[in-house]
Amino acid sequence: MSEPLYERNQLGVGFTFHNPVIYLDRWLNSWKDDKPLLDIGCGHGVNTHAALMHGAQVIATDMDKPDLSKWLNDLPETQQKAVTCRAAKLPENIPFADNAFCGILCAEVFHFLANEEVTPSINELYRILEPGGTLLLTCCSCDVDVLKTTGLSREIRDGVRQSPLTVSGQRDYLNLLAQAAKAFNCPKITDPVLAAHKINIPGRDFCFFAPEQLAVLMKNAGFIIEVCEQGEAPHYPVWSHGDQDQIRIIAKKPV
Ligand SMILES: C[S@@+](CC[C@H](N)C(=O)[O-])C[C@H]1O[C@@H](n2cnc3c(N)ncnc32)[C@H](O)[C@@H]1O
Repeated sequence: MSEPLYERNQLGVGFTFHNPVIYLDRWLNSWKDDKPLLDIGCGHGVNTHAALMHGAQVIATDMDKPDLSKWLNDLPETQQKAVTCRAAKLPENIPFADNAFCGILCAEVFHFLANEEVTPSINELYRILEPGGTLLLTCCSCDVDVLKTTGLSREIRDGVRQSPLTVSGQRDYLNLLAQAAKAFNCPKITDPVLAAHKINIPGRDFCFFAPEQLAVLMKNAGFIIEVCEQGEAPHYPVWSHGDQDQIRIIAKKPV
């Protein structure tokens, strides 16, 4: 059997992934000697690791101060010194100055936000990014294949059409996944996945996004959207995958 592309997140919530984020280069290439990169919701730090290998300075954050010692201690001293680990939680605890970063990564974090936290979080990301800086954001889409049978996508898109600036994607994720498992009708496959989610996402809602709504909210905050697309996310810990599962956004703060 092949190795899973994820593991239980020991430090924060959810799963953490083994594969670096798509468009990683866009985040890495936004690094300019004078300001660090920010990895927000870094989990076990797969992307922070890549940034250190690239030679960048990085601030790695999660809801609690991340402990990256599992791999960090094996890096040369210069790279160990190039990372600072701090606690930061969207949207209410972002302890950074305006324009502090040249590049921000927010990979697979937004779906953990509540509806009312989404716009304030976008505003905070905008505030701490320097003019000309790049934000790379990925998260789970409302079109995620595994929940196709639940009608989630249509429901969320109807809501967006009625009220484009109101975020209403928050759902009881475990309940939706259980519904989808029932429709899939193969407990041998779905039971272990449901059990893992119960442990890793205990009592958590999930916020499912329509990419066009995220883009509008980000434009409203001042961002220029360079990429807004959906694609595959084979690392999501579910039993079926589609080509619209993940939202990827690359946005710039105007100079
Ligand atoms: C699915 S993991 C992704 C980890 C990493 N970015 C990656 O791509 O492997 C999501 C991470 O976001 C963190 N997180 C959840 N809600 C957050 C919030 N409101 N602010 C900051 N981080 C948050 C979780 O603790 C977790 O480490």
